[in-house]
Amino acid sequence: MDRYAVIGHPIEHSKSPIIHTAFARQTRQDLSYQALLAPLDGFPDTVRKFRAGGGRGVNVTVPFKLEACALATRLTTRAQAAGAVNTLTFNGDIIVGDNTDGAGLVRDLILNLSCPLAGRRVLLLGAGGAARGVVLPLLQVKPTVLTIANRTVSRAHELRAAFASHAGRSAFTAGGFEDLEGWGFDVVINATSASLENEVPPLPECIFAPGAFAYDMMYGAGDTPFLAVARALGVTRLADGLGMLVEQAAESFALWRGVRPNSASVLSRLRRKLAVPA
Ligand code: ATR
Repeated sequence: MDRYAVIGHPIEHSKSPIIHTAFARQTRQDLSYQALLAPLDGFPDTVRKFRAGGGRGVNVTVPFKLEACALATRLTTRAQAAGAVNTLTFNGDIIVGDNTDGAGLVRDLILNLSCPLAGRRVLLLGAGGAARGVVLPLLQVKPTVLTIANRTVSRAHELRAAFASHAGRSAFTAGGFEDLEGWGFDVVINATSASLENEVPPLPECIFAPGAFAYDMMYGAGDTPFLAVARALGVTRLADGLGMLVEQAAESFALWRGVRPNSASVLSRLRRKLAVPA
């Protein structure tokens, strides 16, 4: 039986084993998938032991995505652009590092949520690791506008500069939250970690154009603080990041196994579970 795992610290709340086990059952793939806790200073060692035991690949989560990038002997273009890796594949001596987070976000928006991005004005809030991982896939679907806004304005500019050559015909801009005054967007994506502190970036109300979609890369049982603010401002099309989680897993699964699972059924099952407090 082929072995896979997700490595993180902490790891006990990871939903990846449930998701991948459901994918395997659905596609009749003979594999096992476990959660592995690595010590904070022991990521490479945990990977080495898993490989030595016959592991075929791992997903990598907080706080090891940068270390996984350094450990890979080969990087896909999107992993290189993200500067972070969430999927490692072991191929003999080669360790391929990939990043499926951005593809997961884009697939969730376009396919699951019927929220097209091509020709739309898209606002990305945040300029940390989570935002960096999705900039290239967002530019690749050709929005008319992609604006990055961040609390620390210099980080927004740095992120824009790193991807400026990929902008094509998109108007690609960066700034602080106050610079958003007077501008409206069709899709607003929260990639800040503010929700973790129960906070919401200070956003001008105008950013949600009529019919706008509000998307939070975080997820939870009810509205995240960002989604609650959007809803209070009259936004009716909203989603949290549970779909992104399932889609990035589907992308990793497809890379490893060569078959794409049906993510919709797994997503609706997870959503029902999330609604019931543990
Ligand atoms: P991650 O990997 O989750 O992106 P990160 O790299 O630490 O984590 O980045 C966190 C992001 O959330 C940053 O964009 C951060 O803004 P700063 O660059 O100004 O630090 C943003 N962030 C965190 N808490 C925030 C808050 N309370 N209000 C607004 N932005 C916040």
